[in-house]
Amino acid sequence: MASPNGAATELDIRADFPILTRTLRGRPLVYLDSSSTSQKPESVLAAIDDFYRAHNANIHRGVYPLALEADALFEGARERIAAFTGAPTRSTVFTSNVTAAINLVAYSWARTNLRAGDAVLITEMEHHSNIVPWQLATQATGAQLRYLDVGEDGTLSLQQLDEELARGDVALVALAHLSNVLGTINPIAEIVERAHSAGALVLVDGAQAVPQIPVNVSEIGADFYAWTGHKALGPTGIGVLHADSALLEAMPPFLAGGDMIEAVERQRSSWKELPWKFEAGTTMIAEAVGLGAAVDYLSALGMERVREHERELVAYTLTQLGALPGVRTYGPPSPDDRGGVVSFVVEGVHPHDVAELLGRENVCIRASHHCAQPLMAKLGVAATARASFGPYNVRSDVDALVSAVANAQKVFA
Ligand code: ALA
Repeated sequence: MASPNGAATELDIRADFPILTRTLRGRPLVYLDSSSTSQKPESVLAAIDDFYRAHNANIHRGVYPLALEADALFEGARERIAAFTGAPTRSTVFTSNVTAAINLVAYSWARTNLRAGDAVLITEMEHHSNIVPWQLATQATGAQLRYLDVGEDGTLSLQQLDEELARGDVALVALAHLSNVLGTINPIAEIVERAHSAGALVLVDGAQAVPQIPVNVSEIGADFYAWTGHKALGPTGIGVLHADSALLEAMPPFLAGGDMIEAVERQRSSWKELPWKFEAGTTMIAEAVGLGAAVDYLSALGMERVREHERELVAYTLTQLGALPGVRTYGPPSPDDRGGVVSFVVEGVHPHDVAELLGRENVCIRASHHCAQPLMAKLGVAATARASFGPYNVRSDVDALVSAVANAQKVFA
């Protein structure tokens, strides 16, 4: 914790993240790509290491003490992960990432419930992982895929939502809680309420929201809420699907095989209870333990505090980057309406060149379409540069970003 000018106390947890001690040609690592993947605190690394060194065994199979330890660590992590997002443990399913969680719904729920004449309503700000599964599911069922527009200010129109819902054919609304490009925080509980009133289910892609803002999925009330561990200070290879338990009960399994069955006969099988019915094969055991440690870490920090810290960093970034001539930022103008993501373009410099030049100063940003090509088309650009924050970023990281962007402009002047 540092309080450089006696003003607001700045959150400074860099010492907890071993990778942030790395330097390149004497320059500190300025990691501004947390929307791609977050860095990991020592406690997460230690939990994974300890699992493999001291507790490694397969789960749900052994009766010897080591296996029971592994069971307890795995299911204990699930309980803490579910509690972190205010969800019931029983309907908290582990998947390999958000894409797998959305595909679980797109195969298991959509292909048994969507019909010709139904519509799936998504938005122009979706990540490909919340577009392509619905393209395939609607093509397979004869349903229609429709989009809500993104306005000039980077937000959705609730009026357009109501108009779409009033058409009476929307079976599912699928949308991001927080845009990975614009940073927009959608009014998700309000959207869920309106969709439910019109008889539509809602799936929320919470990949960017869960690491950045307080999320309580029970209060939001969506039928499906998906997120991923690696963006939330946890390891890669683990995602989470919270879902309405009645829907999960009614849905057929997605992946079939070991560990998800109760009994297997020659011609048919029966399934385990929730959530294991949806967890076929040896699952992500050490990853769950690591994600359990990550949510412990975030809980100890407090998500309100993380949110406020990143809100301040975004406000500072918008002011500082906005002061550079020829730099355009995207997304809602107020930091109150957006998470820790700032996409921008620099006039006369391709975003990939911006990222490459910044990389030479050890400032790590992403430049691409950010897996959101329909949004790029809407914005009229092929790509943007994007700085995205984690709780470990500090104001000096923003200063390094702005200075490096100004240097890039000089190179191309
Ligand atoms: N979804 C990740 C991003 O936005 C990969 O960068």
